[in-house]
Amino acid sequence: MGVDRVRWGLLSTARINAAVIPGLKESEESELVAVASRTEERAAAYAHEWGIPRAHGSYEALLEDPDVEAVYISLPNGPHVEWSVRALEAGKHVLCEKPMARHPAEVERVFDAADRAGLLLMEAFMWRHHPQTARLVELVHGGAIGELRLIRATFTFTLVDDEARLDPALAGGSLMDVGCYCVSGSRLLAGEPETAMAWQVLGETGVDLRVVGTLVFPGNVLAQLDCAYDLPSRQGLEVVGSEGTLRVPTPWGADEPGIVLQRGDDVELIAIATADRYRLQSDNFSRAIRGLEPPMLGREDALGQARTIDALYRSATAGGEPVKVES
Ligand SMILES: NC(=O)c1ccc[n+]([C@@H]2O[C@H](COP(=O)([O-])OP(=O)(O)OC[C@H]3O[C@@H](n4cnc5c(N)ncnc54)[C@H](OP(=O)(O)O)[C@@H]3O)[C@@H](O)[C@H]2O)c1
Repeated sequence: MGVDRVRWGLLSTARINAAVIPGLKESEESELVAVASRTEERAAAYAHEWGIPRAHGSYEALLEDPDVEAVYISLPNGPHVEWSVRALEAGKHVLCEKPMARHPAEVERVFDAADRAGLLLMEAFMWRHHPQTARLVELVHGGAIGELRLIRATFTFTLVDDEARLDPALAGGSLMDVGCYCVSGSRLLAGEPETAMAWQVLGETGVDLRVVGTLVFPGNVLAQLDCAYDLPSRQGLEVVGSEGTLRVPTPWGADEPGIVLQRGDDVELIAIATADRYRLQSDNFSRAIRGLEPPMLGREDALGQARTIDALYRSATAGGEPVKVES
């Protein structure tokens, strides 16, 4: 493509930008042209640090920048919906960080805004763009483990000095933050769950510090999830079928890509090349904007995410009672 790169703007100077910027700058599909922050000083310092041509001292100013075609929203979870809608109404395509929203109705609202504007919107689940994930799906669907029966998905870490993630008003909490990956992994392999059960441990600010959940999918496929802010760093995805097991040690971060397939006593390591999942994500979105391929994720996936997260929270609030996942 090269000559017709999509011109991107960053809405905030979030820490996660550091993972996304190299892919935007090195890409032949994308060009990083602007960044916005809540203050002029921070925007200018950040633009200087990262070599970004224009700095805007407010999010509004970025949305008024006629040169920006696509906006990457890396705000804390709470304002994702408001700023995604505002960006779409300002004529920008939107890549919104996960989780897009806490409630399915909010997801509908943002996608309706995208449809009205004739623009693209995608939830930023970078792990879905890594070749490791495609290989896992291929193995499961190709019968490598027989009939799918059980999924175990984990993402935990120890949270230090992070007010936004502990703030209920900013939609903080471990299920929103990292549990959403466990939900995404389970749904990718098993479809949409019918029933959810969860138990949560709340912290002093009222957000969940630790959650264990169970999802029941059609065909009696079960998924068990755990996520936390008060445990050591752990991630993993185990997919168990009637004839074997697939283990992905780093499914979300893909820091050490590779999949272990065990059938009886046979254990095979399936090698996966390293890849920049953030670059693959922004390249996919840029190519989708140019009409060259579909965006990896759309309304149905974001809705499934919000419906499942909402059901897990409703169950956890009800002390672990089984609740129906909205469909
Ligand atoms: N895909 C991934 O691998 C990944 C990894 C980590 C996080 N995330 C997601 O990315 C988003 C940002 O996470 P992060 O840890 O990078 O965030 P962060 O470092 O806390 O930054 C959030 C930014 O949002 C802006 N902001 C606006 N209102 C704010 C408020 N009330 N409190 C705090 N910041 C506010 C600030 O930018 P200005 O000061 O410039 O306005 C701040 O720098 C979250 O939705 C998270 O779930 C994704």
